[in-house]
Amino acid sequence: MRVTGTGHASMRIDTGAGSILCDPWVNPAYFASWFPFPDNSLLDWETLGDVDYLYVSHLHRDHFDAAHLKRYVSKKATVLLPEFPTSEMEDEFRALGFTKFLKTRNEEVVELDGGLKIMIQALTSPTDGPIGDSSLWVEYDGVRLLNQNDARPTDLSTFAELGHVHAHMLQFSGAIWYPMVYELPQSAKTAFGKQKRDRQFDRTWRYIDDLKADHVFPIAGPPCFLDDELWQFNDIFGDEGNIFPDQSVFLAEYAKVGGTNGIVLLPGSVSEVTTSGATTTHPVPVEEFFANKVAHLEEMRERKRPIIEAEKASWRHPEIDVLKELKQRIEPLLDESIYLAKGVGGPVRFDLVGYDGESIESIVVDFPGKQVRPYADEKVRYRFRTERALVEHLLHIGEVDWVNSLFLSCRFSAARIGQYNEFVYAFFKCLSTERLQYAEGWYDEHERAVDAEDITLGDWVVQRRCPHLKADLSRFGIVDGDQLTCQLHGWRFDLPSGRCLTSVGHKVRAHRVGEETEVAQPTS
Ligand code: FES
Repeated sequence: MRVTGTGHASMRIDTGAGSILCDPWVNPAYFASWFPFPDNSLLDWETLGDVDYLYVSHLHRDHFDAAHLKRYVSKKATVLLPEFPTSEMEDEFRALGFTKFLKTRNEEVVELDGGLKIMIQALTSPTDGPIGDSSLWVEYDGVRLLNQNDARPTDLSTFAELGHVHAHMLQFSGAIWYPMVYELPQSAKTAFGKQKRDRQFDRTWRYIDDLKADHVFPIAGPPCFLDDELWQFNDIFGDEGNIFPDQSVFLAEYAKVGGTNGIVLLPGSVSEVTTSGATTTHPVPVEEFFANKVAHLEEMRERKRPIIEAEKASWRHPEIDVLKELKQRIEPLLDESIYLAKGVGGPVRFDLVGYDGESIESIVVDFPGKQVRPYADEKVRYRFRTERALVEHLLHIGEVDWVNSLFLSCRFSAARIGQYNEFVYAFFKCLSTERLQYAEGWYDEHERAVDAEDITLGDWVVQRRCPHLKADLSRFGIVDGDQLTCQLHGWRFDLPSGRCLTSVGHKVRAHRVGEETEVAQPTS
């Protein structure tokens, strides 16, 4: 099985029974904030796009690059579709001209022509990608590959049960706006960023250890930030709180925990994977490439500057009355929302900075009051500050997912009172009736599910499934004193009270070994 690196989370898999192109991403994403790193725009995409199968793991714009798919990927390719709850992905592919689809069933192995086998695991909670993320398993001629991508399954047993895996591709770097956009003292940002960076690596080691594949390929990040306004997010300043470590840092950190089977794929690297080994060739030596990282980024920044400027010029729509449009679009959704509105639990404020860089329009999405209105000098749970032009653009294009656009752009700052609140972001990625209904239904089922099984961790008896997204705490839970950490997303819980220290709600049921009384009941 031959794997060609095509940048970020993208790769082309060639077998004797056909080729699969995965997640080709070239054009900038999220308001021209993210670019693929290393640069992959000079690859021979005409040839790479001439494939038998196309797989896109999810709809995040650094995976689903509509313009690139339309221009470069053969419409004769059969699209391997994950079993997602909504038809959005298929609809988007059809709009680009794709007509051949294989709709997979979750976790069911499919044998394609010539003995090529595939299986797609679809994750469908409201917090998984834009309502859905997935991983692709491939087997041909005895060689097995798992492209886990940036999906976060609770464990990898479904794949491990299909036989020993030879190549495991997974995410290791950051893909979020936290903590950089928060209005915090630099020292706090660095401390939180360092924690986040450590947690990302811990989670990666856990997955690698779960699967024990022969070879591990770090993929799906980091992006690079080429706009001067965002340049500081690149991990080139020796900042230990930067959440975007690159593949060379991965190799160094992996070596510290004894990892010796890591393989970096640069765009154009080719790895021949067999049951007995892997031989990889690179367009330039990997160490040399990363030694010249800053020069690579600077050169890219100059080359891509016109693209960024052109995108920026398209954002302003002064004819849009933002408050009026937001009312029209969001108030019907607030009326429909039970769980998400209750979960947010307070007003969320948007401070929109005008074209002059100074004037501010302050708008509140009032979740308890179910209305959108001008800010009224009140206490708010979250406050976001961004350019009015960005929100105008979101309204102009009818964007239903502000995570997959505004928030991932990192072109905003934020402040909040209290803990992280996942419902805020879940709501703003569900700005359509279809998505909102799905998320409401999911939380409804989730609330009702009572997880009665307990396990013992150290001196504590705790519920087996994490109150966040049900990770098996016998694998992901670590108890340190009176604190439990679930390593899947790094959430922490105070065991004596059961209180979640990372997010509102999500209490854990726990009591000390030998004490029969439960000190905390699960609620959310
Ligand atoms: S499942 Fe997310 S922190 Fe446990």
